[in-house]
Amino acid sequence: MARSTAQRFTLVESHGDVALASFATEVERGLRTKPKTLPCRFFYDEVGSEIFEQICDLPEYYLTRSEREILDSHADEIAASFERRIALAELGSGSSAKTRFLIEALLRRHGGLYYVPIDISRSMLEASSRELLDRYEALEIRAIASEYEVGLQHLRTETETPKLIAWLGSTIGNLGHEDAADFLRTLRAAMSPDDRLLVGIDLRKDRAILEAAYDDSAGVTARFNMNLLERVNRELGGRFDLDDFEHRAVYDEVKGRVEMHLVSKREQRVAIEELGLEVEFGAQETIHTENSHKYDQIEIDTLTSRAGLGTESQWLDSRGYFSLNLFAPAD
Ligand code: AVI
Repeated sequence: MARSTAQRFTLVESHGDVALASFATEVERGLRTKPKTLPCRFFYDEVGSEIFEQICDLPEYYLTRSEREILDSHADEIAASFERRIALAELGSGSSAKTRFLIEALLRRHGGLYYVPIDISRSMLEASSRELLDRYEALEIRAIASEYEVGLQHLRTETETPKLIAWLGSTIGNLGHEDAADFLRTLRAAMSPDDRLLVGIDLRKDRAILEAAYDDSAGVTARFNMNLLERVNRELGGRFDLDDFEHRAVYDEVKGRVEMHLVSKREQRVAIEELGLEVEFGAQETIHTENSHKYDQIEIDTLTSRAGLGTESQWLDSRGYFSLNLFAPAD
């Protein structure tokens, strides 16, 4: 008899208070230093995760469409590189929309699949898992609501079958080159020789295309960035007036990254009640909220060799904007 949706689903949650404490700590640290910063991982509360889904559909935000095109064309080839049934783990799974191409290809190839989505948004995990389980009867899901590091510890002990670890969307770009190599090395350490790592990496390109992708005409990315200040207001008793700040996205060609900032339109002091803090801003002073690195081939090769990985396959979309890379542990 077919197993019910509930029988095929487990959820592990490992954050909570810790996450809140680290938000407060990081906001205080980031706003006390010069230049001011706030870590981009805090974009993704419930509101931010919703806005991010909207970003993925924007005409200017080519990343999602390009990666989807690659997955649509090559998911069967990826599935064929595994001889038997595998576990598919996904870091930062979000709505799992693009992952469906992989899930379907793996189900076609092997008849069943164990899917381990890892995401900090529990509500997103529950909603997307429910949809997937309703749609695919041969799918089993163990969802892990946690930050990547915790999720990785689960992965190490998770399964005996070979794993495909997917890290899509060029989330790797939100780390500096050094941190990206370190993180890939950590992933490498959790891999057996038969495991593979599938990483979406956005490529260097024309400034106009990049800046439009991070400063869209409908103002959705601006809202996404501003949500960080709203989050400080909601969760930490911040008194940020959003009309006094504006969104800025600039491509630094030398560093190969799009930087997002929140710019103070005037000199001002902003209280954050729960931190007992009053933050001073000069006119045009910015809070640096995100880096989104864009790679060329040499940079991708350097990254993989530093991480102890080798490239098994690489695919680009038809415009050559985005790359999907299948990495294997190097001997
Ligand atoms: C999640 N990450 C890969 C996105 C990016 O493109 O850097 C986040 C984002 N920031 C602004 N728009 C999208």
